[in-house]
This record gives sequence, structure tokens and C-alpha cells, in this order.
Amino acid sequence: MCGIVGYIGDKDATPIILEGLKKLEYRGYDSAGIAILDGKSIQVRRDSGKIAHLGELLSKDPIHGSPGIGHTRWATHGEPSERNAHPHIGFNGQVVLVHNGIVENYLDLKQELMAEGIQFNSETDTETIVHLIESYLTAGNSLQEAVQNTLARIRGAHGIVVISTREPEKIIAARIGNAGGVVIGLGKGENYIASDIPAILEHTNEMIFLESQQMAVITKDDIKLMTLNGTRINYKIEKIDWDPISAVKGNYRHFMQKEIHEQARALTDTLAGRIDFSNSNIQLNTLNIDKIDINKITGIKIIACGTAAHAGQVGKYLIESIARIPVEVDIASEFRYRDPLVDKSQIVIAISQSGETADTLAAMEEARQKGAHIWSIVNAIGSQAMRLAEGFISMQVGPEIGVASTKAFTAPLVDLYLLAVLLADKKDLLCDESKSKLISQISMVPDLVGTCLEREAEVIEVARKYKDIEHILYLGRGINMPIAYEGALKLKEISYIHAEAYPAGEMKHGPIALIDKQMPVLAIMPKDPWYEKMLSQVEQAKARGGKTIILATDGDKRAKELGDDMLWIPEAAWMINPILAVIPLQILAYHIAAMKGLDVDQPRNLAKSVTVE
Ligand code: G6P
Repeated sequence: MCGIVGYIGDKDATPIILEGLKKLEYRGYDSAGIAILDGKSIQVRRDSGKIAHLGELLSKDPIHGSPGIGHTRWATHGEPSERNAHPHIGFNGQVVLVHNGIVENYLDLKQELMAEGIQFNSETDTETIVHLIESYLTAGNSLQEAVQNTLARIRGAHGIVVISTREPEKIIAARIGNAGGVVIGLGKGENYIASDIPAILEHTNEMIFLESQQMAVITKDDIKLMTLNGTRINYKIEKIDWDPISAVKGNYRHFMQKEIHEQARALTDTLAGRIDFSNSNIQLNTLNIDKIDINKITGIKIIACGTAAHAGQVGKYLIESIARIPVEVDIASEFRYRDPLVDKSQIVIAISQSGETADTLAAMEEARQKGAHIWSIVNAIGSQAMRLAEGFISMQVGPEIGVASTKAFTAPLVDLYLLAVLLADKKDLLCDESKSKLISQISMVPDLVGTCLEREAEVIEVARKYKDIEHILYLGRGINMPIAYEGALKLKEISYIHAEAYPAGEMKHGPIALIDKQMPVLAIMPKDPWYEKMLSQVEQAKARGGKTIILATDGDKRAKELGDDMLWIPEAAWMINPILAVIPLQILAYHIAAMKGLDVDQPRNLAKSVTVE
């Protein structure tokens, strides 16, 4: 979690870091701070609260200079407060550091340092790192040696960025494990560091990504990349072709609203270059599928967390129906702790927007050790989930800032559909006619999504009627059952309304007891193979006095008779329905939360990328 930004060059680092932190606030937002080398001393400003608050603090009590580092925090050890906010300063005031990760042995280190008479000023684990670096410096080490010696002593996964009055012409950054990325942005006579691309993309699109167990010594004119024991490594400069504007809110009130509305275009980008219409072929070049004999594959496991796991559940229906390969979907945090049965006859697909979710990365590693083939479907370019995999599919939807994921849910649905067709093709399951029918169905998605988006006003009316409810039950079946889960997740995470999702057929085994006038039921029942079953389940809910919101296919008269309120989607093939059905549910959740005046983009207690277990 947490966002990091650093700058070294001739400009004043403060506004660059402050602006960068604003773009990373989605990573954590309980406290923030900046440290600048101002001539010979370190100046720190930090406080609890959001970046705007830090901005006010800096305008009252400014600091200027270069280099500088900044941090926005999602608390793990120690409550959100000024004293626990980063940057943290060493006991002699010569070193200052920002950190992403958890020092697993911090209690032992803290005791050792306290026994040496070092006083701690926070409850954080991070403070042990900065004091260790300071002790090595005090003992005569160079800054680089002090960092190396410190990193050898801390356990866990980390991203750190350090500056020191002893060697003010450099910033040192390091990465160990998967606690979030460290990316260096290349400028002319200046360089940038960040945990994530959007923070520095307006300054440069040339980036170097630190791998695990690497560190970099960065001056304004030079970058030295090395292993943690100082062996130099050549670096590869990657050009990022994201549009920096797409990381800016524009005329929308919230990023989530912007990202919902971007979906027609984003899904066009997801499809771009992947369908060869001349011979009805799917091209997923970065997947390296030809390295695997698909006919020997006995099963696929999809691992993911949160919204990405819901996308995986839809993927199960798509891959099993189209490619006839058995698929299991696992929550990543559960997967690795049960000695999962995976081997080289299986493909494990990790789905992750950020590509940095700790549980997902750990599950990938577990599967890799057991010999499985590893693929990923990832949005963040250069992320660990992209690098750890033998092949990947990039979502190609640009940065997603709103904590509640929207376009990074629909994009993997498109990717999984393409993958299912490609797998079926490799297994020779599809005649030309069915292949081109499947391809033409997916190529209509951006248009159909556009139609769903045009109906925002109708959904707003439904939002207005239901904004004050306290509970709601989302029901779906078959391929739309995960959409019930995703719709309920969207509502609960941003509006704090208790929204529960259930497979509609299971309702009679318990949740039906909850239904009364206070507990509306939102039933997802577009025309699909489960439609008739859904009809009877909605009848059962109505018979118990429940109010019904029905999501149905345009023109469905039977659904209209049953619904107190309606959400309509255009007619489409049943395998495409989930991509459409989720759109009104995103819009509904968004407007309910916005009408309640809640912080839609940064809901309480959440963070966009969860780089801790
Ligand atoms: C967090 C986010 C969710 C996201 C999940 C998995 O909980 O708030 O929106 O679905 O992490 O993130 P990933 O980056 O792996 O898709």
C-alpha cells in the first residue's frame, strides 16, 4: 500500500512531490508527508489526514529544495497520526526515509536499537529502518553501504527511498519482494522516483522498473542500478504510452464516475490489435501460448482478490463453455495456505489491476514452485504480476484511480473471453463459423457498453429511490452470479450500505428469511440460459413482500411485470451479458454514494492496491 514520490534536480522538489502524491492518494490516504534537503539540513512536514491537508500545512510553513521524498500512507503499524506519518528521520538527523512494506522482525530490531540508547518517536516498524541506516552511517559507512547493510537485516517485502545530509547529491531507492513497485522516471538533469507510474508521468514517460532485490543510486544526471550487494546491472528503459490526461479527473466529479464512463473507449483499447478479422484469429502475443501444449492442460486455476476475483468467476463460465477446460477460481489469500493441488499440467492465471497485490503475487509464486504455467491479466505496466508470469494479457485501460474498480473489471472479462476463444482454437474445438460468431459478439461490446452508459439518467432515478436503504440482497445465477457479487461489492464499499450477494438458487436455503419490505432484492436476469429459473426466484422474493429492482434485457415484459424498478441492458449474447449487466450496477452504486455525499474515490478503510497480507 502507500504511495512514494521522490525528486532530484535543479527544481524545487516540494510542488513536484506534492502533485505526485495527489495522484497516488488512491494507494492510501490516512496521513502524508514530505522531506526536503534544504542546504545542509532535513526539513520534514507531515500530518494525519489527506494530501490536501499536507498542502495546507506546506503553504503555512513552506519548505523548498532538492532532493526530496514524499509519502502517502495506509497504516499497518501504528494509528494514522503525525508521529506515525512518513518520512521518518534517523536519530542523528542525517537520514530520512519513506517506506512501503512491513518489517517483519521490527520488534527484535527495535529492542536492539533501544538497548543502544536510540529513542523511537513513532509506533511504526519503518522507524527501525531509518535508525539502522543512521547507525551504519555513524559507524563510518557510506550511504550506499549503510542502506545495503540495513536491507540485509530487515525481513519482509519493502520499497524504500532514502536521502541523507551526508551525501545530498543522491537518492537511494531499493526494492525487496512484492511490497509495491519502485519506478525511476528519467529526466534531463533531473530524475524522479515513485511507487507508481501516474505520480511522475506528467514529467517523463521514460521509466526504469526496479525488480525485487535491486537498488538504485540516483543523482540528477545519472542512475546506477545494482543488486543489493552492489553488483552493477544494466537497465532497460521502458517507454510508457499512457496518456497522462487519462489520469486526471477532467469534468467528472469523481474518478470512479470518469472511469465508469471511460469503459466504452477502454474496452475498445482492450480489444485493439487482438482480433484479426481477416481470418477470425485472436492474437494475444504477450501470452506466449505457443510455449504450452494446450491439449495436455488438465485444468486452469484463476487466482485473484476482490473485484478481480469476480472477473475470474465470470472467466470460469467463459473458458469452460468455450474451451471446455475445467476452471477453478480461488481467492488468492486462501490459495497459498492450503497446499493447493497444482502441477505442470495446469495453468494458473492471476488477475490483478495493480499487479502488486501481495496475496496474488504470493499465490503466483506458490503455483510457480509447484510447476504450474503462470499467466497474468494485468493493468499496471511493468508490475510484478506482469513480470512474474510466463505470459500476460495487458488490460490496456490506462490508470484506474478510483478505489472501487470499474474498467479494470470489465477489461479482464473481455480478455478472458478472447482467451477462451484462443484456447478453444488451439484445441481445434471451433469451426470457422462458430469462431467468427464468437469474435463478432465480443467486437460489439464497446458499442453495447456505450448504450448502457447512455442510460445513466434512468439509473440515477433508481438511485434516488433507494439511497436511504440499509440493506439489500443482490441475486444472480450462472454467469451473472459473479455480477451479483460485484454489484453488491461496489455498493457496500463506497456507500457503506449492507449489500449481500447470493446465488439466486440458494436464496431458499437461508437468505429468503431476510426478505421483507425493508430489504429490497436486486435481481440480475438478462435473457440467458438461467432466465426462467431467475423468474421463479424473483416470484418467491415478491411473494415475501420484497421490493424488486430487476436488471433485464430490453423489451422483457415478464421482467417488467415483476420489477418495482428496472435497470435495462441491450440485447446481447449470454456470454456478453455480464460485461453489460455490471455497468448499471456500477452507476447505481456510484450515484447512491455520491448522493449520500460520501468520499467515493477514497472510501474509508480501503486502499487501491493492497501490498500487505
Ligand atoms: C483492493 C481494491 C479492489 C481490488 C483488489 C484487488 O481491495 O480496493 O478494487 O479489486 O484490491 O486488486 P488488484 O490490483 O489485484 O486487482
